[in-house]
Amino acid sequence: MSNTARQSRKILVTSALPYANGAIHLGHLLEYIQTDIWVRFQKNRGQECHYVCADDAHGTAIMLRAEQEGISSEALIERVSREHQQDFATFGVAFDNYHSTHSAENRYFSELIYTRLRDKGHIATRDIEQMYDPVKGLFLADRFIKGTCPKCRTDDQYGDICEACGATYTPAELIDPVSAISGATPEVRSSTHFFFKLPDFADFMQGWINEGHVQPQIRNKLMEWFESGFNEWDISRDAPYFGFEIPDAPGKYFYVWLDAPIGYLASFKQLCEREGLDFDSYWAPDSDAEVYHFIGKDIVYFHALFWPAMLFGADFRTPTAVNCHGFVTVNGAKMSKSRGTFIKAATYAEHLNPEYLRYYFAAKLTAGVDDLDLNLEDFTARVNADLVGKVVNIASRCAGFVKKLGDGRLAGHCSEPEMVARFIAAGDEIAEDFERREFGRAMRRVMELADDANVYIAEQEPWVLAKQQGREQEVLEICSVGINLFRQLMVYLAPVVPAMAEGARDFLQLETLDWHSRHEVLIDHPIARFKPLMTRVEPDRIEAMIDASRRIWWKSRNSRIPPGGP
Ligand code: MSP
Ligand code: ZN
Repeated sequence: MSNTARQSRKILVTSALPYANGAIHLGHLLEYIQTDIWVRFQKNRGQECHYVCADDAHGTAIMLRAEQEGISSEALIERVSREHQQDFATFGVAFDNYHSTHSAENRYFSELIYTRLRDKGHIATRDIEQMYDPVKGLFLADRFIKGTCPKCRTDDQYGDICEACGATYTPAELIDPVSAISGATPEVRSSTHFFFKLPDFADFMQGWINEGHVQPQIRNKLMEWFESGFNEWDISRDAPYFGFEIPDAPGKYFYVWLDAPIGYLASFKQLCEREGLDFDSYWAPDSDAEVYHFIGKDIVYFHALFWPAMLFGADFRTPTAVNCHGFVTVNGAKMSKSRGTFIKAATYAEHLNPEYLRYYFAAKLTAGVDDLDLNLEDFTARVNADLVGKVVNIASRCAGFVKKLGDGRLAGHCSEPEMVARFIAAGDEIAEDFERREFGRAMRRVMELADDANVYIAEQEPWVLAKQQGREQEVLEICSVGINLFRQLMVYLAPVVPAMAEGARDFLQLETLDWHSRHEVLIDHPIARFKPLMTRVEPDRIEAMIDASRRIWWKSRNSRIPPGGP
């Protein structure tokens, strides 16, 4: 079957743009791995699929962080971008383009969208009062103000919520408020802000979230928001601010969340320029392409309300779907720096194979928004039992006999055509699971097949037959079936564990493990010498990783006493 015969879908996929002031950690990786698996699946199926991302480079936090480090904001985002891209590559997250929101393309689209909205009357300006740090010369967001809780009187609380009693308030209500940046007493100052008139789009947004573009749980949550009513959205910040100045408004900058999602357009535009793709065929209102955003549940409002409204108001098409996932917990609790479960991508990769994590996340992912627990004992057991114990085992039991009895070539005839056909047919249901982001279900089906393959080999006992005179051909046929079954499994696992699949492709001497390629059964086909494609998770590596994470935290607290002894 050739790819050219069928009409391929045009698909653009994004993951959320990570902030340029911190390292990628295992929580982030859930999202990038989920998206990457889906993208690899689409590409393996022969679809035209593009996966873009970028660093989210603007805002006060990044500006202050750069200042703290004594470097320019540009130098900071440059460095962090390199670190992020290194981490993504390590985990096999294969973007087709990785850009920055601090880019010419993003400035262009931000100005374009803003001016279109403004010219249609969807932008308002009015003066608002805000806390101002007179020492730093900076307006203070709520989280940059600290003081005593007006309800329970606990001191050192942030300007929006009390961590002791849970009360919410405005920073003006704090007792003895101070700037968290300079320690100065903030003043109330007034300045002009720009607002996106969201209420203009109330009907549009309500329609949009009820048309199947978001998961049911997300729809329900968003509908609650409609019932409580909503305001215009403040999209400007006063200088000094690291971002884009608003056209015709000197000293006023786009709020980071205004230009962040526009970064999806900017990154895709850069890809289009490089590869000669037609940007408009993806983003014009009449586009027949599909656009998917993968995000975490903490940023739903921005993606499922504000972003579609911005696009609609500025004459772009809106996303096909916003696919939301839950949060990663480790051993049943929120990731914790002091417990060593706030694990950075780079720390993990120093100790463990990134593909273990890809498989574990896949095995637990659904299309829903529930949190996903990385239970480290279960992680070890699952990876060892499934990938090593079930899948690799098939090839390692069969390869030697093929080498010895077939001189490295599979048998010239398939002795179990029905079983092989069943494994091939299973690919259609597995594909549906991948398509619907039911990766856990897909992995369960694959492992059931792996069980069947192992049962077949165990029952045939090729190692017993091999000791009997004149049964060499039989042994070769059994092991050739085993290798064919293994090949089917690797086609289905390839989007999840691409490096392992690459090793398997090499072993199988195949040009591709694409989904459609599986229909051709391997007969009289040469295979290479078998090398272990995946080794067991060693529990002491996990402990070492937790220790290292804890040590990083202690170091950052400038403590001289490392936890748990010297
Ligand atoms: N910069 C914004 C996104 C802008 S998109 C136009 C942002 N950045 S982030 O670095 O904080 O998060 C990036 C993505 O990682 C988000 O989708 C977020 O939900 C996800 N995650 C961050 N921590 C996570 C977990 N602990 N678990 C799962 N996903 C998590 O938000
Ligand atoms: Zn309180």
